[in-house]
Amino acid sequence: MDKNIYISGFMGTGKSSIGRLLSNKLDRGFIDTDHQIEQSSEMSIDEIFTKLGEPFFRDIEKEVIQELGNQKKLVISLGGGAILNEENQKIFSEGALVFLDTPLTIIKERLSRTSHRPLAKRDDEIDALYEERIATYRQAPYIIDCQSHSPDEICQMIIKKVILDEN
Ligand code: S3P
Repeated sequence: MDKNIYISGFMGTGKSSIGRLLSNKLDRGFIDTDHQIEQSSEMSIDEIFTKLGEPFFRDIEKEVIQELGNQKKLVISLGGGAILNEENQKIFSEGALVFLDTPLTIIKERLSRTSHRPLAKRDDEIDALYEERIATYRQAPYIIDCQSHSPDEICQMIIKKVILDEN
């Protein structure tokens, strides 16, 4: 199957590390959209949000996703908010969209150990965003239950579900 595999999920669900591991296992190219945005703008995501604002970030994110949508056979780890944009959703529907389903308690524990995420600075903010987004995440055709599974097991579950289903 030639389609791109898009890895989505809330902040702190391990999208980047799972995406990278999966791309190695499948011998595919790997792109992390946040990383790509940081490299091309020469700013951190936090700086982009602070200096240029979230709408500006969302525009660049959309451009990056449109561009990646023209390519094939990639594993692409998305930023946690990319799924909310309808144009992005259209691109994801042309590939295989995977949602990494991780319980909120685990997410919050992980996020409490980092400080670089502009939208995860406060606990109540995390709760509100999760609540607002969870239904959209769950619309993904491939939902992977990440609780109590190692990164290797998560990749095996993705491979089993996506590759078997799409072939
Ligand atoms: C965001 C998630 C971040 C990053 C930006 C906005 C979000 O990516 O794209 O801070 O809206 O959930 P991660 O999900 O990789 O942390």
